[in-house]
Amino acid sequence: MRIGILGTGAMATTLGGAWVRAGHDVLVGGRDRTAAAATAARIGAVGHGTPADGAAYGDLVLIAVPADAAPGLAKEFGGTLAGRTVIDCTNPVVPTDDGLMLTTGGTTSIARRMAEAAPGAHVVKAFNLCHESIWTLPRPMFEGAPLAVPFCGDDPGSLDLLAGLVTSMGCTPMPCGGLSRAAYLEATAVFAIGVWWSGAETRFAFPTPAEAPRTP
Ligand SMILES: NC(=O)c1ccc[n+]([C@@H]2O[C@H](COP(=O)([O-])OP(=O)(O)OC[C@H]3O[C@@H](n4cnc5c(N)ncnc54)[C@H](OP(=O)(O)O)[C@@H]3O)[C@@H](O)[C@H]2O)c1
Repeated sequence: MRIGILGTGAMATTLGGAWVRAGHDVLVGGRDRTAAAATAARIGAVGHGTPADGAAYGDLVLIAVPADAAPGLAKEFGGTLAGRTVIDCTNPVVPTDDGLMLTTGGTTSIARRMAEAAPGAHVVKAFNLCHESIWTLPRPMFEGAPLAVPFCGDDPGSLDLLAGLVTSMGCTPMPCGGLSRAAYLEATAVFAIGVWWSGAETRFAFPTPAEAPRTP
């Protein structure tokens, strides 16, 4: 696949690197051309350029910028992004006295705001749950199973593309509904990060239904 990236930071580098290793053609688009060139060279991308170049490249476009900047970029490049699959990996978080909180209030999502800002684009929420470092692992495996990557969106073709992309990374696609559920993925990230910061493990709070004893 051809994948354009907007952003040159941690997620652009690690996800972009994982996609290059998986055999995809990646172009890094950054507002700082020097940073874009450095990130592209670091991950072995086919090229680099401006955010406009990243938006115009490929079947998929990753928006890897701070959450509060993402809807604005979607609006700015809405015409170019029309018909493309746009991956939103952002987490709209802010530290408060009561811990990490959503900046959206949880009633909407950054993914929804991006979709409203770029009505022709097919926005998919994905890759927002794991720390950047996970994507540096050649084939992420945990407790004997490949890492599952949840994603949600409304366009069936885009969901198929995401599933193929995730599979190419050695991970398991986990489609989890339409874009209206993106707010849940964002809230899940905030919840999980808070739990990890407290020193606990989220997975111990979620036994599988198969492990639950039958009630008499
Ligand atoms: N890091 C993680 O572990 C992680 C995990 C899951 C999700 N996320 C989410 O992924 C997104 C990116 O995180 P990150 O860790 O990669 O951040 P980062 O390392 O700080 O990189 C952010 C990138 O966004 C660019 N940027 C900022 N504002 C911009 C704008 N208005 N227009 C164009 N580019 C802009 C920055 O460019 P400049 O260098 O020019 O400022 C930089 O290249 C965030 O929304 C974050 O919540 C991060």
